[in-house]
Amino acid sequence: MKVLVVGNGGREYALAWKFVQSPKVNRVICIPGNGGTATLEKCQNLPMRVDDFDGIARFAGVQGISLVVVGPEDPLAEGIVDYLQAQNIPVFGPTQAGAQIESSKGWAKTLMEEADVPTAKGKVFTDSDQAKSYIKQQLAPIVVKADGLAAGKGVIVAKTVAEAQAGVDQLWEQGFSKLVVEECLQGEELSVFALCDGESFRLLLPAQDHKRVGEGDTGANTGGMGTYAPAPLGTPELLQRVEREVIAPTLAALQKRGIRYCGVLYAGLMVAADGTPKVLEFNCRFGDPETQVILPLLETPLEQLLLACVQGKLESFPALAWQEGCAVCVVAASEGYPGKYEKGKEITGVADVEEMGAMVFQAGTRKKGGQLVTDGGRVLGVTATGPNFESAIANTYKALNKINFEGMYFRQDIAHRVRQNT
Ligand code: AMP
Ligand code: GLY
Repeated sequence: MKVLVVGNGGREYALAWKFVQSPKVNRVICIPGNGGTATLEKCQNLPMRVDDFDGIARFAGVQGISLVVVGPEDPLAEGIVDYLQAQNIPVFGPTQAGAQIESSKGWAKTLMEEADVPTAKGKVFTDSDQAKSYIKQQLAPIVVKADGLAAGKGVIVAKTVAEAQAGVDQLWEQGFSKLVVEECLQGEELSVFALCDGESFRLLLPAQDHKRVGEGDTGANTGGMGTYAPAPLGTPELLQRVEREVIAPTLAALQKRGIRYCGVLYAGLMVAADGTPKVLEFNCRFGDPETQVILPLLETPLEQLLLACVQGKLESFPALAWQEGCAVCVVAASEGYPGKYEKGKEITGVADVEEMGAMVFQAGTRKKGGQLVTDGGRVLGVTATGPNFESAIANTYKALNKINFEGMYFRQDIAHRVRQNT
């Protein structure tokens, strides 16, 4: 079968990397892909925009694509799935209505309140003065969020009332005319992905992300600087609670609104010290970089699993098979990220890492002549596995040391929390 992956990040590379391992998949096409997907065996790039729905649909139709998987949130929020479904193209991802769970934090908040899903107490505002007086009433710490998609830059976790109020002004000036102001939750974060077929769902292994750019979780928020799975915080008991208290009622509330949610329902959770999970946010797609540690541990063929979701047959699908052990991914970024950075720096060492049995999930890379060069903020992620976290961490950093490009930056403390806890 032929699989089409939409997107160009590390997540999309990881999806393509997993698909090509299946003997049932004879070709993977990435739109537009990156420098890594250009050279993966059985894989090729197609230089097309991810918002060119008509071009993508025509290509998928002519080529007889058996499965389209949409990586990023933007095309989902813009309705790529509705467009492809209307032409009978099998596509994994929620429709535009379902994608609102990520594209509108206000919509998601209302849905959660209706479904009694545990989340931070919050309010939606379309008037900045009202938002500011609510902040004054509630006091700090408090969180201000832009309603729409903001590529991780629309959340201000404010320590003081003044900071929160300045955050309101800042988001307003950026053009967000709807904001959510919510209670600041304490605890540890966990990413849980539910694969959904509209009726049933299956959880993937829980992962933990490291969103801040600096060691010890300091500095600016990023797309994610590293991750590990299975996160020990996600105990079987906690995951059962998440299924019962978060995923099942959310899918039921979506169905009540007439939405058949097929795709990943990604719950970004805050787990309190007493083990209570609350939803910080929902996303409508696979997480990046979490996918780069979850897929290396998944033994079940991914294309079969996602096709079962598309066909509404998840209920009868066999139990997911996982490799024993742990996976750790460290992201190598361009100097300056998440602010301004330069591109076009020569990357060396990828083959050396692969020879060691570790994986290089390329993200912001491109081929220039025969050379691999940097082309983004998060350039690549190196993932290694091991029987325990200690060995997976050591294997990952040993492999990462083989990679080099000018201005390469990475955090030295990925998965440090597990090290501290064990
Ligand atoms: P979001 O895009 O909503 O996941 O927010 C980005 C990050 O902001 C999260 O990963 C958390 O670290 C933080 N955050 C968001 N909402 C809250 C909250 N209610 N309380 C504490 N931290 C939050
Ligand atoms: N890892 C965070 C995200 O994918 O949004």
